[in-house]
Amino acid sequence: MKTESLLERRTAAVPRGAFNIAPLFVESASGSKIRDVEGREYLDFCGGIGVMNVGHCHPAVVSAIQDQAARLIHSCWHVAMYEPYVELAERLNALVPMPGPNKTLFLNSGAEANENAVKIARAYTKRAAVAVFERGFHGRTLLTLSMTGKVDPYRRGFGPFMPSVFRLPYEPFFAPADADATTVAGEAMIALDHLFSYQTEPDRIACLVVEPVLGEGGFLPIHPAAFRVLRDVCTDRGILLVADEVQSGFGRCGAYFACERYGIVPDMILMAKSLAGGMPLSAVTASAEIMDAAQVGGLGGTYGGNPVAIAASLAVLDVMEREKLPERAEVIGARVMELFERMAARNACFARPRGLGAMRGVEVVDPVSGLPDAERAKRLVAAARDRGLLIMTASGNVIRTLMPLTISDEELDAGLRILDDAAASVEEPTPAEATRVPA
Ligand SMILES: Cc1ncc(COP(=O)(O)O)c(C=O)c1O
Repeated sequence: MKTESLLERRTAAVPRGAFNIAPLFVESASGSKIRDVEGREYLDFCGGIGVMNVGHCHPAVVSAIQDQAARLIHSCWHVAMYEPYVELAERLNALVPMPGPNKTLFLNSGAEANENAVKIARAYTKRAAVAVFERGFHGRTLLTLSMTGKVDPYRRGFGPFMPSVFRLPYEPFFAPADADATTVAGEAMIALDHLFSYQTEPDRIACLVVEPVLGEGGFLPIHPAAFRVLRDVCTDRGILLVADEVQSGFGRCGAYFACERYGIVPDMILMAKSLAGGMPLSAVTASAEIMDAAQVGGLGGTYGGNPVAIAASLAVLDVMEREKLPERAEVIGARVMELFERMAARNACFARPRGLGAMRGVEVVDPVSGLPDAERAKRLVAAARDRGLLIMTASGNVIRTLMPLTISDEELDAGLRILDDAAASVEEPTPAEATRVPA
């Protein structure tokens, strides 16, 4: 088998730290399907971790990449400029919910977008500190790892981290959507007061970076009342509110940006992943006043806003508009939620279905204690893969959906049927659970 020998070569040549969720090598992909080197086809509910909202190898994206590659692959923005960079900046400046005039900087990855957001916020506010959330994920570079709010596997052994990063608890901010708004708002105020009273003074905080829907942290949408409190407190205290929409953006949550679903206007939006249909590209967008705070030469990099990635992104924007993918996300999400609610109703292994648009999750838990059960979640993912569906977890025990938004109704139904079947296969108590006496 080709896969076996590739796995052997992979083990010998590539560090184990660069993890894989499946022993699978891809040969090609199209739309919502991936074909492996054995010729086996899988429905893809991972989308390269939220990158393929327009689907694999969308013809419009492929053609834009081919055209651009034949004309100019790289000149470096700082050496010789090119129009598509400006055009994409103009389109994103108009697309974000901030009134403008806005400006956009292009980089290569979500982590780099977060890094630059902090640099720009510091330059603009002349303050040093950064506020973030437990369970937040902002990347794996040392600054963004300092911001990322989970020890295992991200931070373990990699410290010391950047000082002046302060962390808010994820609860009450990410309380369930049906939690009482007044209670959540009150508790959110208390948590912020704690931050300002016991950790750092608010006028030292340059920015507060929040994912409107926690991605790696478990597909938890922020509670609307808590988001409103964050907006108001940031305005009152002169703190920039930064929406990290790297995973929740670009149509995934039923709008171009999840914050639009809440009617919250952040000061800065960070984009990556589905921004460029699989090409490495990220963006930081904010008002011209904020973005121009950094001095000439203070921002950039060799590859940021590479012409081929920019061309792909322009094509992605056209596809999203033409195929109305943000609206489609809502339809997909409703069908996924139907299944997740059914799973939670029929078996105690599944709990707390949630999400926004097509960014949906359901927890796999120990049926007796109700505690997170990452082992059972792993078995579910493997059972789905055996049946021809690629799906992955967030935060260990949360089954999450990141299928292309271009997925057909038939493919979606087929994928959900497999998921249902795989879920049923892990519902039986394990021998250890069967003999355990409830506490
Ligand atoms: C919300 C969020 N921010 C930042 C990142 C980091 O992006 P990248 O892996 O492109 O550096 C991720 C990646 O999963 C993410 O989900």
